[in-house]
Amino acid sequence: MHLTLQQLRLFQAVVRHGSFTRAAEAMHLTQPAVSIQVKRLEEQAGLPLLEQIGKKIYPTAAGRAVLEHGTAVLDQLKALDQELDSLRGEIKGPLQISVVTTGKYFMPHLLGRFLQQYPGVEPRLKFTNRARVVERLNQNLDDFVVMGQVPPARNLVSHPFLENVLGFVAPADHPLAGRRRIPLKRVLQERFIAREQGSGTRRVVEEMLEKKGIAIEPYMELGSSEAIKQAVIAGIGVAVLSLHGVRLEQEAGRLTVLDVQGFPIRRRWYAVHLEGKQLSLVARTFLDFILAEGPKVLQGE
Ligand code: PGA
Repeated sequence: MHLTLQQLRLFQAVVRHGSFTRAAEAMHLTQPAVSIQVKRLEEQAGLPLLEQIGKKIYPTAAGRAVLEHGTAVLDQLKALDQELDSLRGEIKGPLQISVVTTGKYFMPHLLGRFLQQYPGVEPRLKFTNRARVVERLNQNLDDFVVMGQVPPARNLVSHPFLENVLGFVAPADHPLAGRRRIPLKRVLQERFIAREQGSGTRRVVEEMLEKKGIAIEPYMELGSSEAIKQAVIAGIGVAVLSLHGVRLEQEAGRLTVLDVQGFPIRRRWYAVHLEGKQLSLVARTFLDFILAEGPKVLQGE
């Protein structure tokens, strides 16, 4: 049967009031709107559900069956609603997560949406570079961590949840801007601004260049992707950054993403914790939330 919950509610109201007009008033609808929905329900049932005796309306035997089961369905839904409400109330308390620095461009958005649903959660997010996040992971200091590359250790559980696209960025008026398929060797003749040792972004770039037999010779090292972005805008050089973090500057025409051969590099972000770790209810709920809602939340930003 294809029926809607609203049809069941309206049917309940008509039987309760013994009248379409009074049911419509109670449900803040017009009388024809109620009649149409009840008629549809009757069509689905394939039997008349109501009969009129005098001025009053009564359910038929089929109507009583619909009423009985329909009421059970609606009651179950109400119970589900209440249970979810109380679970939401229980989901409160500390949530401790370490995130690689580049995650600062999306984790606050995910957290913000999560806190709208669970205001009792007390979040502590620590943003630090990959090497430090790996240390914290091994020492089990967080509920879970978020990083771009999972260490090869066997005792880890990782959940991929978003795409991490790494591209070459340059000032919008850079001579290579708009050129197609720029050779890697050519772009590396530019002043290259690199992240510090220990950065996951740096690791990805080094690994990629190593495979091509190219050693990285940074013109300058900076310890934060935000500082690198500003340095690129200031015309100091080019860099590889996670493109999540440059969207606004790109839209504002301050930065451009160069079309370099072998780029962009497409990776994933992972939520990672030690195997066998018992996640708290808050942590489990947040993890489920970012896995299910992550892409949707960020599309809306
Ligand atoms: P990073 O890490 O912020 O240390 O560069 C990014 C990553 O793990 O991919």
